[in-house]
Amino acid sequence: MIPVPAHELPLPLTDLNQVLTTTRAVRWRLDYERPVDLAIIGECLQLAMQAPTGGDAQDWRWIVIGDAEIKAKVAGYYLDAFREHVHKPLTGDSAAAGRDIDGRLGGVREDGQVTKRTDRMLRGAYDLASNIGRAPYLVLPCATRPNPAEGGAGQVSAVYGSIYPAIWQFNLALRARGLGTCLTTLHLYHALEIAALLGIPRGTMQITLLPVAYTLGTAFKPAARKPVHDIAFLNAWGTPLPYLDRLITQLGGAVE
Ligand SMILES: Cc1cc2nc3c(=O)[nH]c(=O)nc-3n(C[C@H](O)[C@H](O)[C@H](O)COP(=O)(O)O)c2cc1C
Repeated sequence: MIPVPAHELPLPLTDLNQVLTTTRAVRWRLDYERPVDLAIIGECLQLAMQAPTGGDAQDWRWIVIGDAEIKAKVAGYYLDAFREHVHKPLTGDSAAAGRDIDGRLGGVREDGQVTKRTDRMLRGAYDLASNIGRAPYLVLPCATRPNPAEGGAGQVSAVYGSIYPAIWQFNLALRARGLGTCLTTLHLYHALEIAALLGIPRGTMQITLLPVAYTLGTAFKPAARKPVHDIAFLNAWGTPLPYLDRLITQLGGAVE
């Protein structure tokens, strides 16, 4: 049984189940004031590099941004994108605007209203958008190949599939050391400007923007998620996998 942490945890975290169930999108609890040693970022990147890539191409590139001026510029683009593509559609009076964001966000109703849970997430997202440039580092993973516009259907899967495992592994490594991040993609609305700012070559795809900081406190809870028997099928589509979730129950119940 995995204990539910109610207090500060001794670091590094070594219980894999605990790390896997408590690595959250950290927004409110990023410690913007505490410096981060660049060697820790390097260490977590080295661990991330153990993730697989299609054909073992290892064609990822990671830009670690610690320069205050560059961070501020990237953060400005991020906040602009948040206002334009999240806040404005949701606060506009037309339901059409709400539907526009529906494909990108869980918990948006027909009339454009959001559920309580999504509302809380959005408030955190706004706070992060307003402060993202204060994170000690912004980490920008990029993919240099394959080009998803070329080749077969597998190319799209390969380009993202060859970098997201490493991004997540980076996140797990941070978590184990008392740091956290939130996977973000809104900066991609300004990908061209950011590419010019950072000298990213043509054809290289920026994938996410990760604000990296120590977390305020080390104890996090598992998230509320759909049960496995609702999302997994046995042998064919529609036949639920006969498994009743037990791990999260053992963890003492997920947070809402
Ligand atoms: C592909 C992807 C893109 C995301 N983009 C953003 C983003 O631009 N801004 C943000 O605040 N969170 C972003 N998130 C974080 C999700 O909102 C978050 O993971 C989700 O609400 C679940 O929360 P949890 O990770 O704490 O379980 C993104 C997550 C993923 C996987």
